[in-house]
Amino acid sequence: MSSEDTKKTLLFSPVKVGKLTLKNRVIISPMCQYSADRGLPNNWHTVHLGQYAIGGASLVFCEAAAVEERGRITHGDLGIWSSEHADALKPIVSFISSNGAVPGIQIAHAGRKASMQRPWFGNGPLNEADKARGEIPWDIVAPTAEPVNSESLMPHELSINEIVSVQEAFAAAAGYSDEAGFEVLELHSAHGYLSHTFLSPISNHRNDAYGGDLDGRMRFTLETVEKIRAIWPSHKPFFVRISAIDGIDNGWDLDDSIVLANEMKARGVDVVDCSSGGIAGVVTASREPIGLGFRLPFSERIREEADITTMTHGLILEAKQAEEILQSNQADLIGIAREVLFNPYWPRHAAYELGVDPEFNDWPEQYGWWLTRRESHLKKIGQR
Ligand SMILES: Cc1cc2nc3c(=O)[nH]c(=O)nc-3n(C[C@H](O)[C@H](O)[C@H](O)COP(=O)(O)O)c2cc1C
Repeated sequence: MSSEDTKKTLLFSPVKVGKLTLKNRVIISPMCQYSADRGLPNNWHTVHLGQYAIGGASLVFCEAAAVEERGRITHGDLGIWSSEHADALKPIVSFISSNGAVPGIQIAHAGRKASMQRPWFGNGPLNEADKARGEIPWDIVAPTAEPVNSESLMPHELSINEIVSVQEAFAAAAGYSDEAGFEVLELHSAHGYLSHTFLSPISNHRNDAYGGDLDGRMRFTLETVEKIRAIWPSHKPFFVRISAIDGIDNGWDLDDSIVLANEMKARGVDVVDCSSGGIAGVVTASREPIGLGFRLPFSERIREEADITTMTHGLILEAKQAEEILQSNQADLIGIAREVLFNPYWPRHAAYELGVDPEFNDWPEQYGWWLTRRESHLKKIGQR
């Protein structure tokens, strides 16, 4: 096949993010596995994340890693609060890098959504049945002493000193992430977790400098961004995931997100990762309409009005759909989550489908050599 037969696409063109060039625009979105022990990863995490590097994504995000122990959603969350955690993540980072992808990590604090059951044990607050299995609830924190809803645990309202110590934990986690060898860092400021609860008027009813008007509610997140950027090396890209809208009455809205995106850009954030929902329960409880690529309008406006690189995700299912999003300037980076649970080689199959890699040249040689021969056999028997 001549080189004219291979197609040029945006999805599989390199893109510069901060000072780093990604080989394509397919990003593995962070996905908690609830399978760690005391915040430490194991072979599950290596294989889970490693398969996505083999699968052809340019950047593989490791799931939300808690910056302190009480900031885990469940007992099974990953953590990044010590050198022990950084050391345990090194083999994963090394596997991802040596298989052609960039290793990224999302750092997080679950705030009032901490001390929960793993999804398959109920997804609610830890209770007596969990205690019997050895999963003891712990005290949780938030901007205001208000639970997510009537079934949730009551959080303790963070004092100013406690706020500063949580922000320092975020900065320290950025240091441990660098120590582990990650090349990209994302701050989780979405889905009703701690940073998002400071932003949203639904969950922040403080009457000090960290609450009140938009400036007050943005203070926690923006100071945290500054503290992380001071530690996270300037040549390494810094993403922030936000819930662009709360999707409920009188909540955080898209205009607020545009103001926030501009402020974050001024503080050295390279990418706004546009998510939505989660302030008053699970993300899917938001009343925003859900459809294919339903977060694109958020990404498109933030990209245009804050003049910043955006990533988005949410029911982006097909290669052509992803390519059209990029061609129509609705986002710069395509995050994929559940589709790669279904098919970890989604990026390689997309490249095949779009005619970018019809001869399996970009596949690992352990696989590509065989797939080329499989293709010629299929042609001979009329199956291609
Ligand atoms: C198993 C699973 C775990 C997830 N964990 C995280 C997480 O750690 N951090 C986060 O910001 N989003 C998390 N998400 C949300 C995804 O990153 C993604 O935004 C969402 O699933 C929408 O994309 P999709 O339609 O391609 O799945 C998770 C999603 C799934 C399915």
